[in-house]
Amino acid sequence: MDKLTIRQPEFTFPDDLPLTPDQTDKLYSGFLCAVSIVAPQIERYLIRTMSRAKQEIQDPEVLDDLLKFSQQEANHFRSHDELNDLLRSKLSEKNRQKLLKHEASLTEDYRYFSNTRSLNFNLAYAEGFESATCAISVWGFKNDTLNNIHPDWKGIMEWHLAEEIEHRTVAFDVYHTFKGHYLHRLFFSSYAQIHLLKYLYRFALCFWEELEITEKNKSVFRKYFWSLLGHYLATIPPWYSPHKLKVDDRVNLILSKYSTQQ
Ligand SMILES: [Fe+2]
Ligand SMILES: [Fe+2]
Repeated sequence: MDKLTIRQPEFTFPDDLPLTPDQTDKLYSGFLCAVSIVAPQIERYLIRTMSRAKQEIQDPEVLDDLLKFSQQEANHFRSHDELNDLLRSKLSEKNRQKLLKHEASLTEDYRYFSNTRSLNFNLAYAEGFESATCAISVWGFKNDTLNNIHPDWKGIMEWHLAEEIEHRTVAFDVYHTFKGHYLHRLFFSSYAQIHLLKYLYRFALCFWEELEITEKNKSVFRKYFWSLLGHYLATIPPWYSPHKLKVDDRVNLILSKYSTQQ
């Protein structure tokens, strides 16, 4: 893998930023809001996990990737923290309180995992999150799901998803430096994905209720469902490795755009 680049683009989020990043797709919009809310929580937890792992890593390349991975994730959560304050302020009091309650519960779960579970568990969780995030990001770019996104949303989302693809191998390599057993990965990374999906759904519900979503709404999730499932299922077999992924030129273009914008 090429060396990771640390980018720190500045985004501004105006007060009139829409709660629907895609005006034609409320289902996807609520999901993107939920992704933004979940990001700082999981990213802080990933950085804690990596910081625990780094003491025991001998391979200088894996260690260098780990440090850069943590810097990229820290830049992600700083930008999302700012966006999320605005998103919460746009919810009704009822939905905001519901969201805050779910967020507190997720914070508690991550504190519990960091304080009580083994490093192998936490690294498998990190790998499960990162492989699913990479699959969703690849799916998004392949099907141009960010094409209709409002300009105030587009920058942060394309930069973040492109860097998720760029650093796709790090959690996988760090996990394999320690445990690296297929059945262990399968079990605990699936646990991570179910755990995260549960919270993403709870967060998204707060936004979907606000956006008054109906069954009839068209969505990229319905249009490209089989493609999404295919990308996710490809991360499951024992021969899966994020090193094998060929990165789309569009992703590389986005990465170089933000590399030169600093
Ligand atoms: Fe991230
Ligand atoms: Fe990541």
